[in-house]
Amino acid sequence: MKPLSGAEFAGRLPAPARQEGLVVRHPLAAATRPAALISSPRSPSSAKNLGGLGNHARSGSQCPANPASLRVVSSAILQLLSWGFQQLELTKVLRPRWTAEQLLSRRLGCRPVELYLEPPPIAAEQAVRFKADVAARAHSVPLQYLMGSASFYGREFLVGPGVFIPRPETEVLVDVTLRQAQGQRDVVIDVGTGSGAVAITLALESPGIQVQAIDKSPTALSFARRNADRHGCSVSFLEGDLLEPCASNSAGMIVANLPYLNPQEAAAWPRELHWEPWLALDGDQEGMSLIQKLILQAGSVLKQDGRLLLEIGAGQVQQIQRYADAGGFRVSQVVSDLAGLERVMVLWKN
Ligand SMILES: C[S@@+](CC[C@H](N)C(=O)[O-])C[C@H]1O[C@@H](n2cnc3c(N)ncnc32)[C@H](O)[C@@H]1O
Repeated sequence: MKPLSGAEFAGRLPAPARQEGLVVRHPLAAATRPAALISSPRSPSSAKNLGGLGNHARSGSQCPANPASLRVVSSAILQLLSWGFQQLELTKVLRPRWTAEQLLSRRLGCRPVELYLEPPPIAAEQAVRFKADVAARAHSVPLQYLMGSASFYGREFLVGPGVFIPRPETEVLVDVTLRQAQGQRDVVIDVGTGSGAVAITLALESPGIQVQAIDKSPTALSFARRNADRHGCSVSFLEGDLLEPCASNSAGMIVANLPYLNPQEAAAWPRELHWEPWLALDGDQEGMSLIQKLILQAGSVLKQDGRLLLEIGAGQVQQIQRYADAGGFRVSQVVSDLAGLERVMVLWKN
């Protein structure tokens, strides 16, 4: 499957979906709508009426006069969940029931457990959108894009088409950087910041340092800025190519999770990956071309004794060691992730 840019991805979606952020229409969405259970918002037995149960239950006011309405609301939700579960199971999505619960509770603005214990009102449009979400997930759209956020280092970060989804293994890069940053008040530069997950986490966990973050992608930077606002932290975001926007001798540390995949292996990548921006994945020439360029630039941007911390891919240590030697760095540490794969290299400026 050919990878899509964020714009191409959005272009595939129908207009209402594009306004919404991400909805993929599915023929089943309208065809299987259980008319008796999910009524049109305009009809007298509308979603507002169906929603009476949720409102009563929340406010603690009287129970609905007609206990049948309780069964109607719950069975609408259960039928939708069951439909979603079946679609996802058929297409071999991992954890299909959990995924259906996540998607429906997001559409209804409640916690998954409330779907069973205290079902909120459901409008016909919400049911249609849920079905479109299920269809999108069945087509390998990453769950984080459908939910609109991803967890990283215990915090939620906004993500969507056009920005890389932060991964758990990158938490190793953050851990190693925080250890190196202890007691420092220097400038730390995050190159290829994406959603800003690394830069924002460093700024929040180590308030003494000043964090700058660079990305070539304006879409990624707009997510990163919104994430910094949401987490109330101060990071300077710059648009540019690698370290090009930075002054000489300005930083104590540079951290980077740059693209390190080999584009020649793209056909074997998991299907989900093809929805993420190509710019965030393609490391060119066996995945290491950007890392090589960064090492060559980093020497002049780092102060004396400055450090460069790199997230790397499988089997890249030896080649990067050679780039480090040529660029005036010595490798002080190689740290493995929880899966035992060499994941982070720490390079000291000679
Ligand atoms: C693998 S993603 C990592 C994003 C984020 N740091 C993280 O760990 O979640 C790589 C990022 O590098 C950016 N990028 C790619 N080439 C770049 C370049 N030449 N200069 C600056 N940023 C670049 C991409 O836009 C993408 O956001």
